[in-house]
Amino acid sequence: MKISMIVAYGKNWEIGLDNQMLWHISEDFKNFKTITSGHHILMGRKTFESIGKPLPNRTSIVLSNSGFECDGVYTFNDIQESINFARESGEEELFIIGGANIYETMFPYVDKMYLSEVNFDGKADAFLKKIDFSTWDLTEKKEYDAIIVDEKIKSPAWKFKVWIKKD
Ligand SMILES: NC(=O)c1ccc[n+]([C@@H]2O[C@H](COP(=O)([O-])OP(=O)(O)OC[C@H]3O[C@@H](n4cnc5c(N)ncnc54)[C@H](OP(=O)(O)O)[C@@H]3O)[C@@H](O)[C@H]2O)c1
Repeated sequence: MKISMIVAYGKNWEIGLDNQMLWHISEDFKNFKTITSGHHILMGRKTFESIGKPLPNRTSIVLSNSGFECDGVYTFNDIQESINFARESGEEELFIIGGANIYETMFPYVDKMYLSEVNFDGKADAFLKKIDFSTWDLTEKKEYDAIIVDEKIKSPAWKFKVWIKKD
């Protein structure tokens, strides 16, 4: 089973504030849905609470040490057990979907990264640990322009990149 990470981050590696996303980019959300649909998605308890419900057409796995429970969600307090659960369910690509805590903990296990680099620079309280790309190969790249409405930025420009870990 491959382990993949999917994340959108700003110019300073920022990913969230007050347990919310920092921007609204509908094309990025659509992309996230397309890539993760049909798969197991693994997240921290805070990210689950930020989303608020299990995402349709995906199997939600939540990591928690505080006894969190929710209908339609598989909760684990042990990372290895959560990975084994996905593998034993026949999953071929498990997606790590955040947040900061989980990205950092799971990074050593990640084989593939789906990254959205957002042209955003602002206040945040959750950050991705800086990635050293020298051990990764870029396999896909697409650029998206900002959406401007009434001379205001409705959604910022962003670049979507896929990276695979070098052997
Ligand atoms: N930009 C993006 O792509 C993106 C994606 C996802 C999330 N985010 C943002 O990231 C932020 C949330 O990140 P965060 O770091 O604060 O929280 P988080 O990683 O979502 O969740 C942390 C929680 O996960 C549980 N946990 C962590 N490691 C564990 C382990 N080894 N074993 C068992 N449970 C474990 C703990 O839950 P308990 O406290 O219940 O024990 C911990 O408090 C939000 O702002 C969110 O919007 C951004």
